[in-house]
Formats: sequence, C-alpha cells, structure tokens
Amino acid sequence: MPNVVVVGLQWGDEGKGKVVDIYTQFADLVVRFQGGSNAGHTIIVDDVKTVLHLLPSGILHQNKICVIGSGVTVDPDILWQEIEAVKQSGHLSDESLLRISYEAAVISRYHKALDDASEQSMGERKIGTTKRGIGPSYEERVARRGIRIKDLLSRKTLEEKLRHNLKYANFLLKEYYQVSDTFSVEDELDYLCEFGKKLKPFMEDTSLLVYSEIKRGRNVLFEGAQGTMLDLDYGTYPFVTSSNTIAGAASTGTGVGPGMIERVLGIVKAYTTRVGMGPFPTELEDEVGQRLRDVGKEYGATTGRPRRCGWLDAVLLRYALRLNGVTNLALTKLDVLTGLPKIKICTGYKYQGKIYDEYPYSETVFNNSEPVYEELAGWSEPIGEIRDFDELPAAAKRYVRRIEDLAGIKFSFVSVGPKRGDSLVLRNPFRE
Ligand code: GDP
Ligand code: IMO
Ligand code: MG
Repeated sequence: MPNVVVVGLQWGDEGKGKVVDIYTQFADLVVRFQGGSNAGHTIIVDDVKTVLHLLPSGILHQNKICVIGSGVTVDPDILWQEIEAVKQSGHLSDESLLRISYEAAVISRYHKALDDASEQSMGERKIGTTKRGIGPSYEERVARRGIRIKDLLSRKTLEEKLRHNLKYANFLLKEYYQVSDTFSVEDELDYLCEFGKKLKPFMEDTSLLVYSEIKRGRNVLFEGAQGTMLDLDYGTYPFVTSSNTIAGAASTGTGVGPGMIERVLGIVKAYTTRVGMGPFPTELEDEVGQRLRDVGKEYGATTGRPRRCGWLDAVLLRYALRLNGVTNLALTKLDVLTGLPKIKICTGYKYQGKIYDEYPYSETVFNNSEPVYEELAGWSEPIGEIRDFDELPAAAKRYVRRIEDLAGIKFSFVSVGPKRGDSLVLRNPFRE
C-alpha cells in the first residue's frame, strides 16, 4: 500500500485534523512535517473536542506511531501541555509511540516576543500572524543559527547558541522595535533545559525511523498544517506562513525521499475561509459571510479570531491541485451550506475586461480582480445525519459533482458534520 500526504488546499482550517483522524485507521504512522503551534487541528470523538497544535492527529488512536518531523518548529511548552492533556484524557499510554525529530526547530519565549513586536511595528501592513513565534524561529533556522530539539540536551551547545541569538534578538527588541522586554541567557537556558529533560525520552532520528518502517511494509500518513495558499513560496506572499505547506514539504520535512510517497489527499472546505490579513477574492463581507461564520463556527482553533468567510474558489482549487499533485480529494463542511437558497463557485477572475482562469502571477490582478461566479441551487434539508452519499439532497449532490468536474478528481471523502462519525468515506487513498 502507498504512503499518503494530507494537505489543505485553501488558507488552512479545511478540517485536516478530522480527516487525518479518520484515515489513521489505515496507517501505522502519522507524521507532521511542517508548521508549528500556529496550527489548530480539531477532532471530535464522542462529544469530546480535542484541539491539537503540535501532536499529530493520529494521537487519539491506539498503537499508532506519531512523529513530529524535522520540518516542524516545536514550542516545547505548548508541546508539553499537549502531551499532558492527551494523557489526562486516556491517550498516549505508551509514550514510546510519540517520536520527535532531533532536527526539529525550537521556539522559545523570545521568538514569540519578536513575532509580536514585528506585527505591532508593521501597523497596517501586518500579516496577522498567530504570534506563536513561527516566523522568527524559521528565520533563525534559515540564517543557520537555529536551535534544534537535540540542542536542548546539551547545556553547553544551547548556551553558545543562546548567547549569539539573544544578542541579536535583544538588540532587535530594544533598539529596533523599542519594546521593553528583553531576555537573559540564563533564564532562557534554564527554561529550555528543563524541557530538554522532559522531552528527551521522545527524541529520535525520525528520518531513519520512518524509512525503516516503510521498508518493513508499514503505511505512513503525512499530516500537513496550514494550507496551500499560506505556502511561503506559492501562497499569497507576503501574507503567508514561514514554511512550505504543500505536499512536497512532506519529503524535506521528514527526511523521507519523494519516491516513497505516492499519494496526496487534498482537503477542500465547501466554502473558503481565511484568518489573518491578505487578499481573498471571494470574501463575503455581508450576511451570507456572517451566516457561514455562525453556522460553520468559523473562529480560529488557535487564536479564537473570527475567520473571514467566502464562496468556494475553483481557480485557487485547481492551482492547489497542481502544486500538490493531488491524487485524492476530501470535501468538508458541506452541512454548513444547508439552507442557503443559492450557492456560488468562483470560476475565474475579471480584471480590466480580461478573464483569468488560472491563478495570476500578478498581485495587482489577484488583489483587484472581480470573481466570476457560477450559481447553483441550494438545499434546505439538514444533512448531518446522512451516511450514504446517494441519500444527500439532489442539489447537494449536484454541488459536490460540480466541484469534482472542476477539479477533475472524484471525492474520496465527504464530511457532513464536525464529529468523527459525520463522515462519508467513499474511497481509501491507501488503496485507490
Ligand atoms: P484544520 O486546521 O484543518 O484541522 O481545521 P480546524 O480544526 O482548524 O477547523 C475545522 C473546524 O470545522 C473544526 O472546528 C472542526 O470540528 C469543524 N469541522 C470539520 N469538518 C466539519 C464538517 O464537515 N462540518 C462541520 N459543521 N464542521 C466540521
Ligand atoms: P491550520 O493547520 C489558518 C495564518 C495566520 C496568518 C499567517 C501567518 O490549523 O490550518 P504565522 O503565525 O504562521 O506566522 O501566521 O498564517 N495561519 C493559519 N491560518 N490555519 C492555520 O493552521 C494557520 N497557521 C497560520 O493566521 O494569516
Ligand atoms: Mg486549524
């Protein structure tokens, strides 16, 4: 059986947590490959809601190896809280099932202070980050000054790195951003070494682990965070996150060669949402948008911020299918559209009389174009209890089929509610 990467095809929050939780039943390992605690992946099982920021969404299953890969940036404080919370609720009874890459990046308190200060200094031009320190931590990594998880085991190495990094960070905080809080090497050293002791039993050469497991015939589900339009290179730059979110990052973010990853399951929400700043052509700033927010409970799982809502954008969908090499598709939150008399899908952008049906490289075109819509009939029947695709209202089926036509791929999965059971599993991406 092949290995599968799960990615979001929009601006995040497509329901990756729920979909990964469902498909974990067919996998032996679940591996996060990028992002950090900016992610918030929600899983609802037996009315108990779990929001995961760093732990892979396979963690609620027994006997699955959950891996935090080298491409992830780990806030040890948040990770530790999460480990304790899942243990409290009766999971992860076998600690050896959680493995953290020695090479994963680390977020300390000064990264979060830098994130906050940077956002504040930008005023109108701010990105609207989650302020979890993601950008500053990845910046350090790219600058080849980064702290890695394995460094938490050596007070000496850590001290050297902190001495160097804090000189720079404190200068920025004090002189450039002119905020008062700076950080002492001693304090950060004690803080991180404490987590080093706690996390030591979980650390491993995870590239070797995942490779060896694949060689033994085990199946891997690679779990992405954020979404394609937040990708550092291919998203709506500069309003993006600081990592590559597309499927290719599953390879670099785990140390597993691309030849070992065969399938890509892309998740698309039945409409579009976005948290933070940046362009969003199909955004609805009217009562329909508010309704999507209310019914879909579109408030950030990490920051609680209201999500901006709008119609499905098929231009972005096709762009995302291409960038990720999507082989399988999942649709989520179809139930949220119930009760809308008309549903729109954006099929192109109009700018200065010209229609664009591919994602335009020009920011001017993308930021100032008008969406071209096609309109479909809505349905009024609640669909949350339906478990057989054929029983969906005819208009709901037409909407789903229309997206399949535009994407050129049939859905493997349709989600009709937030709970684990509110799911129509049509195909298993590990098989077809
Ligand atoms: P992720 O970041 O991609 O894992 O998605 P989030 O967890 O941030 O946001 C998805 C939200 O939608 C969560 O609150 C889920 O519980 C919820 N959800 C997922 N699938 C469905 C669905 O089919 N219907 C409804 N109504 N809610 C869903
Ligand atoms: P999941 O995995 C939605 C957004 C932020 C901001 C931009 C940069 O739950 O889908 P960052 O803190 O990463 O520097 O913020 O990216 N963002 C997300 N939006 N879902 C997420 O994760 C996100 N992670 C980051 O809102 O616009
Ligand atoms: Mg989320």
